[in-house]
Amino acid sequence: MVTDEKTTGVSRRNFLQAVGVGSSAGVMFATMGAVGLAPTAAAQPRNESWTPPRGSDFSLTGRSAKKVVVVGAGPAGLATAYELQKAGYRVTVLEARHRVGGRTLTIRGGDAETDVNGVTQKAQFADGVYMNAGAGRIAQWMVTMDYLRELGVPYEVFTNANADAYLYNERSGATPGNPVRYRTAKADVFGYTSELLGYATDQGALDQKLTAADKENLRAFLRSWGSLQADGSYRGGSNRGYAVYPSAWNEHGTPLPGPGSVSEVLASKVGQYFPFEINWEQSMLMFQPKGGMDTTYDYFVKAIGKQNVQLSSPVTAVKNTPRGVSVTYTAPNGKARQIDADFAVVSAPAGLMRRWDTNWGPDVDAALGEFAVGSPAGKIGLQYRSRFWEDDHRIYGGITETDMDLAHVWYPSYGYGERRGLVVGYYNTGANARAYADMTPRQREMRAVEQGVKIHGEKYRTELESSFSIAWHKVPYIEGAWAYPNTQSSRFKLLQQGAGNVYFAGDWMSEISAWQHGAFWAARYAVQALHARVMAS
Ligand code: FAD
Ligand code: ALA
Repeated sequence: MVTDEKTTGVSRRNFLQAVGVGSSAGVMFATMGAVGLAPTAAAQPRNESWTPPRGSDFSLTGRSAKKVVVVGAGPAGLATAYELQKAGYRVTVLEARHRVGGRTLTIRGGDAETDVNGVTQKAQFADGVYMNAGAGRIAQWMVTMDYLRELGVPYEVFTNANADAYLYNERSGATPGNPVRYRTAKADVFGYTSELLGYATDQGALDQKLTAADKENLRAFLRSWGSLQADGSYRGGSNRGYAVYPSAWNEHGTPLPGPGSVSEVLASKVGQYFPFEINWEQSMLMFQPKGGMDTTYDYFVKAIGKQNVQLSSPVTAVKNTPRGVSVTYTAPNGKARQIDADFAVVSAPAGLMRRWDTNWGPDVDAALGEFAVGSPAGKIGLQYRSRFWEDDHRIYGGITETDMDLAHVWYPSYGYGERRGLVVGYYNTGANARAYADMTPRQREMRAVEQGVKIHGEKYRTELESSFSIAWHKVPYIEGAWAYPNTQSSRFKLLQQGAGNVYFAGDWMSEISAWQHGAFWAARYAVQALHARVMAS
């Protein structure tokens, strides 16, 4: 997590007093901004804990560059190899699957995947149509953005929240058969909560908490936030949207029916979706690499050198030896091969590494066991012959939220103006993901479409051309969507130290599991620890 470590643990008042002595007003004001007490355009504090190894660390000290085997060509493995190689290390990356990127998998036409049960799907998507089956979005503050920029990967906005997308709660309240737009739901929830809070204020219920001036400020805020009438009541307004939007001639705008009563709005439970867009990992505006998330990792491979990344080469053994490490893998021709090196950085899913032949001992093995089961998650990409969600529903990107087992529907943040498009028809986790995973690909498609029709109408069925679905706990060499570590546990700290000449990386070795950001920081941590050892030797 990015924190301003300089102010952590120091009371804000003390910090201000300390730096305020002898300061000019301008400096004082800027400093207030640094602790969040005054507005300022100061940049986001950077996490300064990363010092990349440099080539000069070797050339200036007469040390020779070391050889490192990196296991896994997902974000953690490739970032490890990239950072080490920039400093002059010799690296070999061994990847079990037929492609790089790990859980940042992008499915395009012609791609085939076979799951752990031997079920194969081949994507029939048209040229330019793709599905991010794993990672799909990047927050602006994430280090992932820095790698996109450093490597020159083209990127574009990913619309994570859209006021024109729908909310559809079938099991509660008023929306069954009647999807409501985000903007309408927000207007009603904000409106009624403002009305109630204004009422409580006027009744004196908040007198213990608020001064007369506070109350005036609160009333002014509520009037605008909740679009309240002069008498303080909520009766709807233009921010709910329209059934027919205003235009020229005589159409002044036909209001949507409603709002429903305060009880109906509360019962619909639509408000539960609103915190998402200011969640610190998620946000309204996010980014995606153009052409698919795994494009990023083609750029990494180009920088590392294709000859240094071996695909279809699953590692089966990692051993510390008197001179470093030896790593055994199965080469594409089926033969066992061994590489001896000074160090290894292993970035496969932790639980799966317990199946390898290792000599790092029972404590490390037990620590890895904490991540033995990755959580399930699933997605389906539905390719449509027309972009009816844009043409008919006027939704250009964003996410529709539901309480059905499909959970989320993602509209594409690319390909606007083209004929075809791909909607992510479900993105679910936990029991819902397991239920879909246990179906055949055709059954998954039918269930996703049957539910999506309730929101989007019959075109959701009739315009469908093809689909591809993924169940992450059934993907070979991954077997789970993510695992959440207890970063304060002694076992986590044991793994952070590495085991002999073996270091561990992967998003599960970070505070931010389930994000590339976490994988990159875990890679940096491992690189830094390894390099410090080399420099100290
Ligand atoms: P992985 O990507 O899992 O890579 C590990 C690699 O090790 C794999 O390529 C695997 O094949 C390889 N491997 C395994 N066993 C062996 C072996 N024996 N020998 C050699 N290689 C082996 N992140 C975001 O930033 N934004 C998102 O929106 C986002 N959404 C996600 C949605 C889903 C459904 C999922 C599943 C993930 C999502 N993530 C997202 C998380 C992101 O994909 C991961 O954090 C990231 O891929 C982790 O990188 P990693 O290198 O640690 O692991
Ligand atoms: N990082 C994952 C996502 O954003 C969980 O979907």
